[in-house]
Amino acid sequence: MTQENWTPTSWHHKQALQQPSYPDKQALNQALCRLSKQPPLVFAGEARRLKKALGKVAEGKAFLLQCGDCAESFAEFSANNIRDSFRVILQMAVVLTFGGAVPIVKVGRIAGQFAKPRSDNMETRADVALPSYRGDIINGLDFTPESRTPDPERMLQVYHQSAATLNLLRAFAQGGYADLHKVHNWNLDFVSGDLQAERYQDLSRRIGEALDFMRACGVDGSTTPAIRETEFFTSHEALLLPYEEALTRIDSTTDDWYDVSAHMLWIGDRTRGPEDAHVEFLRGVKNPIGIKCGPTMPPDDLIRLIDSLNPDNEAGRITLIARMGAEKLEQSLPLLLRKVKAEGRAVVWCIDPMHGNTEKTSNNYKTRNFNKVLAEVKDFFAVCKDEGVWPGGIHLEMTGRNVTECTGGASHVTETDLSNCYETHCDPRLNASQSLELAFLTAALLKNARLRASDES
Ligand code: PEP
Ligand code: CO
Repeated sequence: MTQENWTPTSWHHKQALQQPSYPDKQALNQALCRLSKQPPLVFAGEARRLKKALGKVAEGKAFLLQCGDCAESFAEFSANNIRDSFRVILQMAVVLTFGGAVPIVKVGRIAGQFAKPRSDNMETRADVALPSYRGDIINGLDFTPESRTPDPERMLQVYHQSAATLNLLRAFAQGGYADLHKVHNWNLDFVSGDLQAERYQDLSRRIGEALDFMRACGVDGSTTPAIRETEFFTSHEALLLPYEEALTRIDSTTDDWYDVSAHMLWIGDRTRGPEDAHVEFLRGVKNPIGIKCGPTMPPDDLIRLIDSLNPDNEAGRITLIARMGAEKLEQSLPLLLRKVKAEGRAVVWCIDPMHGNTEKTSNNYKTRNFNKVLAEVKDFFAVCKDEGVWPGGIHLEMTGRNVTECTGGASHVTETDLSNCYETHCDPRLNASQSLELAFLTAALLKNARLRASDES
């Protein structure tokens, strides 16, 4: 059933933050009209399956791994990049599945993650002020007036790039590329290829033994689809509301509205005002919804947000993504965990250890330090333990390539290394080796959480 007083356009009457101002309104309307005639990128039934899987996470019986680019771009679009990110996410998922002994729900920040909220509307360089870059769906990164002018045609390019990306992801997930034995062999390459990764060899060896045992019992890719295939979902921040509106459709089997631009959409920390347009838009679509929770989120606001987005308290509908920063998490998160638990709201809690830990180096690179990222993940697990809440997932900005955007980790990226391969269009991402390392470390934390949960039940 549709939410009361809601239509795909009811957000027009609310304050919409972080929206571009398109100079040519006629061009905008024409682009949106064409977009609204495009086929859906995802199916409502798939979004419902993700919601069900997230419902298991909310019950403490599964774990969410949500990761991908900060911002996808037109320049970085290639089959190899998509393959590399998908491969590393699968590698991380295998490690986490083994550590946690729970299903891992895999969700990419991919096939639609193109719009970026910005702290400043304008960027100034040497006395020239131009509109800030807001992601390839809105304007270009080049610092020229032409490039920085919002262009509605970019929405169509994003739609087509997302369709092509999804097509490849579906083929990778179902076509044999995701076979567990293969993924395990990639992990063996990681732990043997990198001297620093030797300490992860024990866990890899045990995964290998488990796979050999299963194979000996007749459980392998030829007998068991779960060994050779996987399920992979897409997500992005539902920031650019005209784009999301144009891709919002009624599902013919249920008569419910779905935003068919991705399986899961989230609301950013800067656009989560309970009375604002982003919350209004998302309350009416039935997809699973994420809410970013930064250190300034008041517990009462959080309950209001949850209630307007999920009045029936359906498990799997809401994922709360804490992004406090390593220094603030221990102080800010317990209040929110406690309030949501006391009010009996069924949610997934997960940790984004990226957005609260961004810093500028002396040579002016935006970076994140691996140890701070890890510290926030560890503190998240510790605080969840103290509050009796299931640590339901991690949300990361990463790529499958060996970029040098975040410092630290076993591969010892230093501040001076950052310039070697710094390619992000927005925030610094963990590279392949840093991502895997974080997965190995998180697997150990997840194992403890799972053992505790089974002791208690
Ligand atoms: C993001 O996830 O890309 C983002 C901008 O995060 P936040 O809204 O938490 O700052
Ligand atoms: Co980001």
